[in-house]
Amino acid sequence: MTPLIIDTDPGVDDAFAIALACASPEVDLLGVTTVFGNVGLAMTTRNALRLLALYGREDVPVAAGADRPLVFPHPHRARYVHGQDGLSGLSDSLPERATGLANTDAVSLLASLLDRAAQPVTIVPIGPLTNIALLLAVHPSLTGKIARIVIMGGAMNGGNVTAGAEFNVWSDPEAARRVLAEEEVPTVLVPMDLTVRCAVDTSWLDRLAASGERGRTLVSLTSVYREHYRKSLGRDGTVLHDAVAMAEAISPGLLKTSPMPLDVECGQGAGRGMIIADRRSTAAREESGVRRGRTVDVALDAELDTVREFMLERLSS
Ligand code: RIB
Ligand code: CA
Repeated sequence: MTPLIIDTDPGVDDAFAIALACASPEVDLLGVTTVFGNVGLAMTTRNALRLLALYGREDVPVAAGADRPLVFPHPHRARYVHGQDGLSGLSDSLPERATGLANTDAVSLLASLLDRAAQPVTIVPIGPLTNIALLLAVHPSLTGKIARIVIMGGAMNGGNVTAGAEFNVWSDPEAARRVLAEEEVPTVLVPMDLTVRCAVDTSWLDRLAASGERGRTLVSLTSVYREHYRKSLGRDGTVLHDAVAMAEAISPGLLKTSPMPLDVECGQGAGRGMIIADRRSTAAREESGVRRGRTVDVALDAELDTVREFMLERLSS
């Protein structure tokens, strides 16, 4: 079993990631924490509860976390991608969860779950990294209880929310830099360069919808999202960014990663939120005076159809 905690801003692709975790027998879903992002915190939290109710997971504790970035205001949400309620206007169509929020905040829940865990835990942040930055800054003694952090975020060659930045990192660059550059916890970054290549088509979505009630419901949440990607990709493709990262968290090695030092642009200029990946050799880095050895495993490639089939097979179960 893989003990796992999801930090999320649902979000249509977050919905598929949460569903993938719920539908995977090897996952021991310890908890879900929510963060601002695609929509505001109240809505991401409401959506997380309802998505867990859809999968009958009354047992999974949910706690709300940051409703804003660490340092500067959140310039804007992503309602144009996910709909006003974060789920293509269909959040109300999902079942209410009888079990409400845990009586604590996200960072406290993350810390208590890690502290109590019998074995190191995989944390899967699929929204802005504010909660994770706070966890690592407030509870450094718990880093030994983290098996690895598998993050959906970043862009290596062209962004989505700006020319150079991906939404999760851009939403709180200071938090992203804390996690990606300053900490030593084993970390996988799944950037949008690869998640876009893993886009699914109408046939894939039709197969999921035909698989049963839950598949049909998930696909029903995609209307606004699919229209966004039809326009932005100019083809029949829907990018399930967060589900691709979740697939790697569930099946380590599904994605092909390369270790490299990362930094995050935290200035206020046009490059804010951009990832700076150092692809030089270790020798070249050392010659130029770089001493820190912190690297992040960046997912740059995969067998794309294998990833798509993994997701479909699990979500259809
Ligand atoms: O850029 C894509 C990421 O930003 C995904 O996690 C999506 O849900 C949004 O949060
Ligand atoms: Ca997300």
